[in-house]
Amino acid sequence: MSTNGVVVRVPGKVNLQLAVGPLDPDGYHEVTTVFQAISLFDDVTVKYGPPNSGISLSVSGATSAGVPTDESNLAYKAAKLMVTKYGLSEDVAIHLKKEIPVAGGMAGGSADAAGVLVGIDALFELGLSRDELEIIAAQLGSDVPFSISGGIAIGTGRGDQITPALSRGTYHWVLALAGQGLSTPAVYNECDRLREGLAISKPQVGDELMQALRAGDSIALGKALSNDLQAAACSLRPALRLVLDVGKDYGALGGIVSGSGPTVAFLVEDDDKSLDLTVALSASGVVSGVVRASGPVHGARVVSTL
Ligand code: C5P
Repeated sequence: MSTNGVVVRVPGKVNLQLAVGPLDPDGYHEVTTVFQAISLFDDVTVKYGPPNSGISLSVSGATSAGVPTDESNLAYKAAKLMVTKYGLSEDVAIHLKKEIPVAGGMAGGSADAAGVLVGIDALFELGLSRDELEIIAAQLGSDVPFSISGGIAIGTGRGDQITPALSRGTYHWVLALAGQGLSTPAVYNECDRLREGLAISKPQVGDELMQALRAGDSIALGKALSNDLQAAACSLRPALRLVLDVGKDYGALGGIVSGSGPTVAFLVEDDDKSLDLTVALSASGVVSGVVRASGPVHGARVVSTL
């Protein structure tokens, strides 16, 4: 089947656990993380561009302000990698319709890169397996393989080695957004600074967390959420502590900085119960926006052809 273009829908994520080991000589940290894909999506359109147009990138959507459209964008790098690796026509037009917060610790940039990989595979009929796509994805960034797989998965290594995890039920989230993003390397650096001189053990997945997921027990999951980068994110952005307090006061089952932040993810019992917390956060003056989402949801997949 030959098409002019494809639209790939890709989810954002929260880290239910993020355990960070010591800094390795390659500049990365060994991590053990549990990802959940949630229902905030970017739609990535990949089309053939006009002759000699090269790789072009455009953006729209609620969270697209300030997103670069040049080769610094990870989605552009993903297209370049595929074009070079598979000797494809350079003329690829990519459009990102963004809903996932930018630099928010929710893998928005990684989602767009994952969407480009899946979109180019479909458009050029490369027939790559999910495993092959995830290996290419890992060259682009630590979170990109999970954006392809979606669902709930354990990430090891840099977070890029993905193993699907057993889970039951649907989990409901209230996400407190910040006006300004945080840089992932800066948060990891701050984590190292705060832990200087401490013995850091090998990161391991939490038994209670995995049990809670297997049982579909959101109360137990709320208690088991953990993130070793949270102290660092709060140190760089002290207002995050106030945001976390609002969650405690308004009945969240648990609250956590997502990844390297600054988005704070609150687990709530069900979508109805999230209203109080949504109103309280909006009124608190310490967040720039509040959105609701649920998970797990699927990873990057083609939703329409053009
Ligand atoms: O892999 P990615 O490009 O997303 O990583 C961005 C930065 O985050 C890295 O350059 C590194 O500073 C930090 N990082 C890390 N350990 C990881 C993942 C990311 O130190 N496991």
